[in-house]
Amino acid sequence: MRRKRVAVIISGRGSNLRALIGASEKPNYPATIALIISNRPGAEGLEHGIASNIPTLVIDHERFRDAPNPKAAFEEQLNDILHANEIELVCLAGFMRLLSDDFVNSWAGRILNIHPSLLPAFRGLHVQRRTLESGVKIAGCTVHIVSSEMDAGPIIGQAALCVQPDDTIESLTERILRLEHTLYPACLAAIASGSAKLIDGAKVALECASVPISTIATPSS
Ligand code: GRF
Repeated sequence: MRRKRVAVIISGRGSNLRALIGASEKPNYPATIALIISNRPGAEGLEHGIASNIPTLVIDHERFRDAPNPKAAFEEQLNDILHANEIELVCLAGFMRLLSDDFVNSWAGRILNIHPSLLPAFRGLHVQRRTLESGVKIAGCTVHIVSSEMDAGPIIGQAALCVQPDDTIESLTERILRLEHTLYPACLAAIASGSAKLIDGAKVALECASVPISTIATPSS
């Protein structure tokens, strides 16, 4: 089996990156983490790459501040590096910048993202605060293909849990993060192996025979 070459792009802590690295170290995992990129020089998550001997690099978006089009200049460098490293799939993992339509279109169907809500609910920022304020009783996380609209691309998988009456932003964030660490590697594996396929750019179809990747946690999780 040839493993798909994956780049993970982060801005911060990198706990999902760590989970993806861990999964990719298993013998039959269909993807290898070939490159880690951070747009923030001090990102804590870079340490996970260094510890695992995976090439890591920083493309500091601030360096392009004076370019005529800073976003385009940042993305041009990103694109060049991804191609130079023969990257086939890109996983955004806590990457805190919006990618342009041009970039997303040139990587159509090949960029994945994880979001800490059951999309299409609670797109954007401050997800757990908004989740608790809304009073919803079920929360979770979603891995999706990135489209030009923020947090809106075709869904690959979701993991859900019950919101507890005494949940705080911190406790809910923590419990959802634990689900993320299983969901993201499962979704990447499904896409990399071809058991999940993007149909007409609009919806992800899962092979019936594949292991289900969406989960509902037990009430105690
Ligand atoms: C996660 O909650 C993820 O869903 C969101 O950003 C957070 C990143 O956490 N997109 P980490 O850097 O992977 O620990």
